[in-house]
Amino acid sequence: MNHPAPLSELPAGKNPALRVVPMPADANVHGDVFGGWIMSQVDIAGSIPAVERAQGRVATVAVNSFLFKHPVMVGDLVSFYADIVKTGRTSITVSVEVYAQRMRHSNECVKVTEATLTYVATDDTRQPRMLPTA
Ligand SMILES: CC(C)(COP(=O)(O)OP(=O)(O)OC[C@H]1O[C@@H](n2cnc3c(N)ncnc32)[C@H](O)[C@@H]1OP(=O)(O)O)[C@@H](O)C(=O)NCCC(=O)NCCS
Repeated sequence: MNHPAPLSELPAGKNPALRVVPMPADANVHGDVFGGWIMSQVDIAGSIPAVERAQGRVATVAVNSFLFKHPVMVGDLVSFYADIVKTGRTSITVSVEVYAQRMRHSNECVKVTEATLTYVATDDTRQPRMLPTA
């Protein structure tokens, strides 16, 4: 059975790392947005606080978890909220939460995806680099 998505609200007092509207070219054969498009945007959104923390280039080393809880539709306004949840010697782990505002349906807001990714600060030779002091 297809359960209706529970309505949500955008996180109060937080700025999204990224806001994007998917286009018809981002849809799968059923007309909903392709999961690979969402993964790509999540990777970009997560890298933004990682690059800021690393003060330079980073590479994605791991996608630790990824949950597509509800579909994203063409024309939704999709907001990606990215927060650093852990840092190590060279690594930065970021939680990304994704909300879709259904612009064609009274602006309803649904939390659609949650993911956690790890980035590694890298040097000019693409080797791991120690994080600068926070
Ligand atoms: C990222 C990269 C430079 C790391 O080099 P590496 O020699 O594997 O690094 P290390 O084993 O020293 O690990 C570096 C950090 O990553 C962490 N790490 C490695 N594998 C991990 C995993 N599976 N999950 C979470 N963290 C991981 C380590 O714990 C370490 O963190 P710390 O320094 O904070 O303790 C290298 O793996 C790489 O170039 N990968 C390809 C990156 C890429 O192209 N990404 C885009 C997707 S195609």
